[in-house]
Amino acid sequence: MNKLTAYIDDNQDRFVEELFDFLRIPSISTIPSHKSDIEKAALFVKDKLLAAGAESAYVIPTEGNPLVFGEKIIDPNLPTILVYGHYDVQPVDPLHLWDTPPFQPTLRKGKIYARGASDDKGQVYMHIKVLEAMMATGTLPCNIKFLIEGEEEVGSTNISHFIAKEENQKRVSADVVLVSDTTVLDMDTPSIVTGLRGIITYQLDVKGPSQDLHSGSYGGAVANPAEMLCRIIAQLKDKEGHISVPAFYDDVVSHSKKEREAINQRPFNLTKYKKNLGIKDIFGEKGYTTLERTGIRPTLEVNGISGGYSGEGIKTVLPSKAFAKISVRTVAHQDSRRITQLLQNYIKTITPKGVEVTLTRLDQEDHKPFLANIKGKGIEAACQAFQTVWGKCPHWMLEGGSIPILATFQHKLDTEVVNLGFGLDTDRIHSPNEHFGLANFMMGIKTIAAFHTCFAEQMKK
Ligand code: BES
Ligand code: MN
Ligand code: MN
Repeated sequence: MNKLTAYIDDNQDRFVEELFDFLRIPSISTIPSHKSDIEKAALFVKDKLLAAGAESAYVIPTEGNPLVFGEKIIDPNLPTILVYGHYDVQPVDPLHLWDTPPFQPTLRKGKIYARGASDDKGQVYMHIKVLEAMMATGTLPCNIKFLIEGEEEVGSTNISHFIAKEENQKRVSADVVLVSDTTVLDMDTPSIVTGLRGIITYQLDVKGPSQDLHSGSYGGAVANPAEMLCRIIAQLKDKEGHISVPAFYDDVVSHSKKEREAINQRPFNLTKYKKNLGIKDIFGEKGYTTLERTGIRPTLEVNGISGGYSGEGIKTVLPSKAFAKISVRTVAHQDSRRITQLLQNYIKTITPKGVEVTLTRLDQEDHKPFLANIKGKGIEAACQAFQTVWGKCPHWMLEGGSIPILATFQHKLDTEVVNLGFGLDTDRIHSPNEHFGLANFMMGIKTIAAFHTCFAEQMKK
């Protein structure tokens, strides 16, 4: 690996400069006015794939944001790795909480600050630079394909449609799907994410009088939608953090004592956890540890709530409507359609008199939880790669977040999926001051390169 490692180290400054160019593109997928930035980011990925040595790379238009596909086939008889990632990013508000502007990347104290630095542009870029380094040093041991999307942060709808088509399944077919969009425990403690939760998203609307009313003239005599919304939300979970929707947990897989012990074995420091989050205490479902609450238990969260007057001072109205954004994180073997039905039924039974309540599902696709095949050759290669570069075997960990398309890759492509992510849980992804360690970026590049080598070896067995 010497020649390769030297190439990576020698080119560090240029790699970082190029990543900065990528990070300067405000490719926010949720906000329609950023459509041209989305296009720019897709083109950037395509160009950099070609520059790195891909024999072909192109932007594939979809009904939404484009996909980028590229490949380098050195020998059809060799194993093939499909790299998946996303070039879209989350919105940046509240802007005033950023120490430096989100789309003006800066390197401070060994950390790259920018929206998308860790999630996921910085991690996608590691893969492109691995291709370059292995091509330049003649060390690429297998075929590589890239499928980089621009809708991960809004639910991966069009990549789902793309993968549903047989001709595309052929196009992206591989022996393993490799994804860097997760974290390691810390720089001395490598880890591999072996599970992610599924996700379902909703809007809950409460409608009352046809317009806002004077809260003195009508208050006390007419149902207040903001209050009724709060009442409904308050009945979704009990005081012990258990979701109150009847039959909600029916299909949740239960874990043996041994499995639960294994989950809790990985390093976890509750004091640091609370400190990092700025909370005095944790809250969650009774009977489970924090790692279990996010790893093996489903949850229902209010992501936002709105209704009535929220400007300066007071405006004495009884609002005509109120709404909440809600997401459910699912675990095996919960079904999104069944959960939606159960929620809808339950909300009907708790709807107060005098308001109309509707629960609308916002996502179209069935984004199932992801569970890695821990006996696969990909996981084995990932362990060897960490062993080679970090000198340590990785822990296995369950992540509470979601990468919607991974389960679809497993089931539709019938291919092993490996999470080889290099972020840290302190990277503030989706928040102000998102950052990615320069050391994470460099270690990531080296570890991914080692993965390619180890995987090619594994496939010979
Ligand atoms: N990279 C994250 C998933 C993640 C979160 C991995 C935390 C490791 C730690 C991904 O980009 C993400 O944010 N997914 C969304 C999907 C949703 C918008 C459909 C999520 O989990 O909320
Ligand atoms: Mn991500
Ligand atoms: Mn994200």
